[in-house]
Amino acid sequence: MKTFFILGRNPQLSRVEILEFLKARNRTHKEILFQGNLLIIQTNEGEKFDIQEFGGIMHLGQITFEGNLEQLKIYFEQNEIIPADKFSYAIHGNLDSQILKEKFKREHKKASQKHGRKLIKFQDGHKQENPKADFYIFLHSTNADEPHNISPATSQRIYFGVTSQTYDPTEVKKRDMQKPVRREALAISPRLSKILINLSDAKPHDRLLDPFCGIGSILQEALIKKINVHGIDKDKQATINAEQNLKWLTQEYKIQTKCKIENTDSRHAPDLQFQAIATETPLGKLLKKKPSDNQAKQIIQNFEAYIIPILKRLKKVKKPSAKIAMTFPVIRNFHVNARKIAEKSELKINIEPILESRPDQFVSRDILVLQ
Ligand SMILES: C[S@@+](CC[C@H](N)C(=O)[O-])C[C@H]1O[C@@H](n2cnc3c(N)ncnc32)[C@H](O)[C@@H]1O
Repeated sequence: MKTFFILGRNPQLSRVEILEFLKARNRTHKEILFQGNLLIIQTNEGEKFDIQEFGGIMHLGQITFEGNLEQLKIYFEQNEIIPADKFSYAIHGNLDSQILKEKFKREHKKASQKHGRKLIKFQDGHKQENPKADFYIFLHSTNADEPHNISPATSQRIYFGVTSQTYDPTEVKKRDMQKPVRREALAISPRLSKILINLSDAKPHDRLLDPFCGIGSILQEALIKKINVHGIDKDKQATINAEQNLKWLTQEYKIQTKCKIENTDSRHAPDLQFQAIATETPLGKLLKKKPSDNQAKQIIQNFEAYIIPILKRLKKVKKPSAKIAMTFPVIRNFHVNARKIAEKSELKINIEPILESRPDQFVSRDILVLQ
């Protein structure tokens, strides 16, 4: 069985999120194609995905046809692909939609293709239409000699499918907006929280640590995933706020899993054996204006010195196989030297840094996993 994924604004990060999610659950899988924001993964028959578990997927569905153009035409003649007479649809992929239009016309269906003025802006700067439609169609062709074609076919290979799930941000937004305490300037988004949790390989009933928990954004998303959580922050007020937020969440969603918040320094993280760590590291002081190159360099150096003793402690309180999914600050173009940090804290890099940035921010993040 093959599933296609239409990925969000940082496709590389979203791809790794999905692959790690499958790996952590020992689900047999093979990556078939990754191009732009399109990903196809082969799994065992009957494998189910719940799009709401992920932070970086816009749509997903099953590939129902794979072959060349002649075979696609026959497939379209023999199969109904949308069981409605009047609907709108949008296409993801590089294939001309004419063949679909002809099919719908033949079937006397009132099918309107949506283009939409709203654009999705990808991290690499390119923009793509992001229309709202009743159905999203995956119609993509690849050639054997293209470098992104992971399983080269004989020549041209067309993949087709109709989405079965579209990400619904309503519930996540509600959780984020309605929680008792919000902290705009510092809090991580629910999207990135989910991604970090998935990268940490945390599964239901595991115990996850956030050693810089702030007001508890990552812990909140972990609790929703039925993960037991432990948060640490050295700022007393942040821990009071995290407790308020998590208390509200457990009542609102009738959550049974355990949750503990501690007001301490992460260098003194408790002697427990966590199965996963997911965290957004502090930058030190909040930057109000863009720093100079020298200042940026200095902040990154300070960060490196600051994080090593904490990582050394985290290594002691995690199970040997447990992963640390975390962010490192990127200021201007200065990155933390992940290799040096891993070496000094005696950890291994499990996932190399993936940049997560927005054009309007001068502080970006590298997302990486240490083990
Ligand atoms: C970037 S914020 C994390 C925000 C959090 N993800 C949220 O959504 O609120 C970093 C947090 O780390 C805390 N912190 C900084 N150094 C720490 C340390 N050594 N031990 C524990 N907490 C620390 C700060 O008080 C701050 O709340």
